[in-house]
Amino acid sequence: MTKKKITKKTKNKKKSGNYFKTDKYILEEIIRVDHAGEYSATKIYDGQIAIFGKNSKIGKTIQHMAEQEQEHIKTFEKLILKNHVRPTALLPLWNVAGYLLGVSTALMGEKSAMACTVAVETVIAEHYKNQIKQLGNDQKKLISIIKKFEKDELEHHDIGIKHDAENILGYNLMTKIISAGCKAAIAISKKI
Ligand SMILES: [Fe+2]
Ligand SMILES: [Fe+2]
Repeated sequence: MTKKKITKKTKNKKKSGNYFKTDKYILEEIIRVDHAGEYSATKIYDGQIAIFGKNSKIGKTIQHMAEQEQEHIKTFEKLILKNHVRPTALLPLWNVAGYLLGVSTALMGEKSAMACTVAVETVIAEHYKNQIKQLGNDQKKLISIIKKFEKDELEHHDIGIKHDAENILGYNLMTKIISAGCKAAIAISKKI
């Protein structure tokens, strides 16, 4: 996935100018699943930082991404309250699963930790791009929030690539497994 592709599609939507109001249930699902996703992201990076330490070179890079995830989760916590959305019942599961994913990939090494970021952020950026299409003209503020976060997630993805994430043994298999896990978590967290 490239930045160019995403920007182009987003612009096309703006140009079309068709007015529509966001479906209430879709809006709730979007806020619920994004809250769950951002929560999980903070846990993944917590797990990785626990292994590398905050003061190592890689730890500092991860810390930068973790700080952006903190901003993302705080925003969705506010949106959950403001829109009276029930958070997913599975937060305790994502707490453990996210942390374990972070710890295990970090234990495999710096490049594996970054491969985890590449896999996760690819799915999340695509997920945000799709959500923007589902949001109507009544949700301009949420659209701009999601666009900003999508940009951050793509930055994280690029940081992973720059750190040679693709250059590990079993990269394709590992990213496929993590990507499938993320997609399953997204599907479940919308509903439960
Ligand atoms: Fe995020
Ligand atoms: Fe991220």
